[in-house]
Amino acid sequence: MGDTQKTIGVLTGGGDCPGLNAVLRAIVKTAANKYNWKVIGIEDGFEGLIVEPVRCREMTPWNIRGILQRGGTILGTTNRGNPFAYVAPIQNGPRDVSGQVIQNLHKLGIDALIVIGGEGSLKIAQKFFEMGVPVVGVPKTIDNDLRRIELTFGFDTAVNTAMDALDKLHSTAESHHRVIVVEVMGRHAGWIALCAGMAGGADVILIPEIPFKWETIIQKVRERQNSPAKFSILVAGEGAKPLGGQEMYYSPGDPGGTARLGGIGQLVAETLTKALDVEARVTVLGHVQRGGSPTAFDRILATRFGFWAVELVAREKFGEMVTIYRTRMSSVPIRDAVESLKTVPTDGELVDTAEAVGICLGR
Ligand code: F6P
Repeated sequence: MGDTQKTIGVLTGGGDCPGLNAVLRAIVKTAANKYNWKVIGIEDGFEGLIVEPVRCREMTPWNIRGILQRGGTILGTTNRGNPFAYVAPIQNGPRDVSGQVIQNLHKLGIDALIVIGGEGSLKIAQKFFEMGVPVVGVPKTIDNDLRRIELTFGFDTAVNTAMDALDKLHSTAESHHRVIVVEVMGRHAGWIALCAGMAGGADVILIPEIPFKWETIIQKVRERQNSPAKFSILVAGEGAKPLGGQEMYYSPGDPGGTARLGGIGQLVAETLTKALDVEARVTVLGHVQRGGSPTAFDRILATRFGFWAVELVAREKFGEMVTIYRTRMSSVPIRDAVESLKTVPTDGELVDTAEAVGICLGR
């Protein structure tokens, strides 16, 4: 047991992700059991520290019971609410309300803040660290696109969800001799598309890192439709684009939010229909990939991240983010992790394997 009573604040920011509750549970239990520290959960990411009165609640091992297997985050989250460019409901433009956040942290008596978030929330965490706030980061993203970390929790669950969809779509595509294009998440990184496509036996996988040639995928589908299989399954990462083309977007995004990728699946299906006179259908998996119960792998990883985050606070390693390297827990400066995105290496072993087993990547 630690003898200095501390109060830790914790928040979840950005898009939700299976395993967030498992991290929260591990933080609360480690803080209470190992150190006898108090944990205050901030609601809806940084937003909870911007609004007046602040939205937060004490978290104890008793009031967080039963959350390990639950998807989402019991604290709520938002991918708006950036305190450095905050857009309130009625106002003209973004405002810097970071000072207010720091004041509220003081008022709550928070000695250290654990930010569980993806690239966006961790960048905010880094700015607060530079302003003197003792911050520790926990990486979170189903996209698995953060640098300086091998694997993030939520990714395995998302890949399993997409794989399950591909398994189901196989039987209907085969029965109807159809082409089915499945659009998956991942923003500018193709990890979900590549891994789900490999696990789900896709014939074509399109990832943002490899702009695809129309003639290559048309040829692959032509061969498939003329083979005994007579059906094709294509997986397109939402950020995939044709050679010389641009990423496709559904909408420019909400004020203070980011633009929403989407539409490439539909374009691929329409182009194949025109080129080959095949019957094509599109399934956009969307947020189903972010929901649901985390896999065993993600629950364990998330629990290790939560424990390690508290350890970083105990060791006063502020400005650091929990990471896993060669299966061991450690930490890296948040600054390094958010410098650029971790994308799929186009000459890496995963891509080589996919191509060796006959998957067309469109090049
Ligand atoms: O970053 C996670 C992610 O699920 C991306 O894969 C996707 O593009 C985006 O978030 C969707 O965000 P929103 O929930 O705002 O639609």
